[in-house]
Amino acid sequence: MQQSELDFTNNLRQASPYIAKHRNKTIVIYLPGELISHSAALLQLAKDCVLLNNLGLKVVLTLGATHQIDQAFEAKGLQWESHQNVRITAREHLQTFQETIGYVRSQLEAAFSQACAEHHLHLPIVSGNWVIAQPKGVIQGVDFQHTGILRKINNTAVESLLNAGQIPLLTPLAYSLTGEVFNLNTLEQAFAIASALQADKLMLFSADETLASLPQAMSLKDISHYLDAQDTETQRILQLAQSQGQQIKRIHLMAESNPNALLLELFSRDGSGTLIYTDRYHQLRPAQIEDVAGILTLIAPLEEQGILTKRSRENLELEIDNFMVVEIDQQIIGCAALYPIDEHNGELACLAVDSAYQKMLLGQELLQAIQTKALQSGLNTLFLLTTHTHHWFIGHGFNETSPDSLPVNRKSFYNHQRQSKVLQKTLHE
Ligand SMILES: CC(C)(COP(=O)(O)OP(=O)(O)OC[C@H]1O[C@@H](n2cnc3c(N)ncnc32)[C@H](O)[C@@H]1OP(=O)(O)O)[C@@H](O)C(=O)NCCC(=O)NCCS
Repeated sequence: MQQSELDFTNNLRQASPYIAKHRNKTIVIYLPGELISHSAALLQLAKDCVLLNNLGLKVVLTLGATHQIDQAFEAKGLQWESHQNVRITAREHLQTFQETIGYVRSQLEAAFSQACAEHHLHLPIVSGNWVIAQPKGVIQGVDFQHTGILRKINNTAVESLLNAGQIPLLTPLAYSLTGEVFNLNTLEQAFAIASALQADKLMLFSADETLASLPQAMSLKDISHYLDAQDTETQRILQLAQSQGQQIKRIHLMAESNPNALLLELFSRDGSGTLIYTDRYHQLRPAQIEDVAGILTLIAPLEEQGILTKRSRENLELEIDNFMVVEIDQQIIGCAALYPIDEHNGELACLAVDSAYQKMLLGQELLQAIQTKALQSGLNTLFLLTTHTHHWFIGHGFNETSPDSLPVNRKSFYNHQRQSKVLQKTLHE
């Protein structure tokens, strides 16, 4: 078999659990105007959205047009004002917004037509008037004029389209109950729509390079560590996530420059961007035999680096009752084991947290769970052997001791070549 065939089949097999997990989930995707202005990138994205639709995901698109509106204003020599990073839409500029957004929408629809025609598929995209807007109003004495915010969305209409396998497309233009036209800030609109639809995911593209400095995953409350005074798209997204992200289960930030970002983010283990999760959705529990494959995947890179000692699948299967695991989305992202040594002493081993989820106190949670398990089993001292991580354990109440202090029946297995440090902690109820 050729390498390309192997890669294809392996990748498809690896994507299988994600395909099952995402089916019927509602995903709002924000397409910035700049991305839409690159025809090759737009066509690729249209194909990927159609693929998601075919895999049973319920996709809602929200359109950005900032880039094209900037260009239209420049071409006409028009000036605009902003406040709090939001453009003020003056009545006399409304026509320019309507013309430009209409143009961007038709570019997008054309790309979807091409994407579907190439694969002989029906065109699933539908534009419509499902949002009722209201004026953003006067804030800090500044009148936002025809800049609006979402007042209400016709959930029933959008949901029935989604259930019929369509992709609803929302533009930044919406109308008030009094028939006035409003231009909605596109990022704010994406958050408002995802919240109103109680979407499972809001997926956003950002062009600025600061995105790369964010971790692979963070919780909503961690956002404050990454906020700074820079006026970048990523910063605006983080601010919105912090203030308006609570109703959305997951927010994903992806690099606009990566044509594979959307599919990688949804269907690969490591994703491609940053995931902001809005609740602590992990589960810490005793391991089961079905977790063996997940634990092996988690610890394999650490074994290779010599941080953890090698364990065979057979041993792990035999010892699975000693393990606790942390699970997120049916994925094992943390583990630790307790091995009884004798009546009073136990050994903590194989503590590991997936690098994408480190520094969220999951390691500490696992350690506490092992300590509780040890106490419940009548043990009062925990030992552990480590080559790389003794400072972390010392920070959690362990003391360094010598291999000679190990209980007799453990001392005989101490591997002197590995030169592990031996740590010890007395447990208290
Ligand atoms: C050690 C480990 C389990 C901690 O997991 P975690 O979920 O990140 O732990 P917590 O969030 O509770 O703690 C994170 C803190 O520990 C620190 N830390 C991580 N590894 C460390 C190490 N080797 N030495 C000292 N401190 C360390 C982090 O810098 C962080 O500190 P900060 O919050 O001040 O920046 C994780 O780093 C890991 O899996 N390491 C590789 C495997 C390993 O060494 N296991 C122990 C084998 S016995």
